[in-house]
Amino acid sequence: MMALTSSPVNMLGCLIILLLLPYPSLSADPDPLQNFCVADLNATVSLNGFPCKPVSEVTADDFFFDGLSKEGNTDNPFGFGVTQGNVLSFPGLNTLGLSMNRVDLARGGINAPHSHPRASESVVVIKGEVLVGFVSTSNVYYYKVLTEGEMFIIPRGLVHFQYNVGHSKAILLTAFNSQLPGAVIVSQTLFASNPPVPVEILTKTFQVDDGVINSIKSKFA
Ligand code: GLV
Ligand code: MN
Repeated sequence: MMALTSSPVNMLGCLIILLLLPYPSLSADPDPLQNFCVADLNATVSLNGFPCKPVSEVTADDFFFDGLSKEGNTDNPFGFGVTQGNVLSFPGLNTLGLSMNRVDLARGGINAPHSHPRASESVVVIKGEVLVGFVSTSNVYYYKVLTEGEMFIIPRGLVHFQYNVGHSKAILLTAFNSQLPGAVIVSQTLFASNPPVPVEILTKTFQVDDGVINSIKSKFA
């Protein structure tokens, strides 16, 4: 009997698999090539990430961020506030492939459906009771009600939300495997883009008339 790998086709198959194995990177952002690279946000060159500030000018302050200690403003129709600890607010994260947000939800507040094109997200409830859910590309809705110290994971790119179902305000910390995960907020993407997505696209997409679309648009004006 011929061994499986001895046929040229099988050997080629094995070779292709071996060649491809290192390529699917396990982290969302590329690996760093030095200890650190504190972002020079004012640099004029444009590249994938940010250029490094000279090491001689780096201090401990570059690795420190106190933004997440402050309560976000939830005084809006969504009862939602987010404080972003990404490379733009915390340049020390540059090249390190991670970032973290603080989400504040008033009672009944919602972090509306959105997705992150460049990162998976882990959600930890610090205070309160929060319904966290996402929908897969097969339209399966996965969800849990989380209380303090509990964690839920949102796979990269999938639409998700958080909704405060408790009796007081809620606080969450969200961590990402990207220094700048990006956020596509479904409602704003469709109803508040600039220039606007044509009303006809939205009426056909949602199978409703102009009045419904214009009413939704007016909420995001
Ligand atoms: C929560 O979903 C966040 O993106 O911070
Ligand atoms: Mn998110």
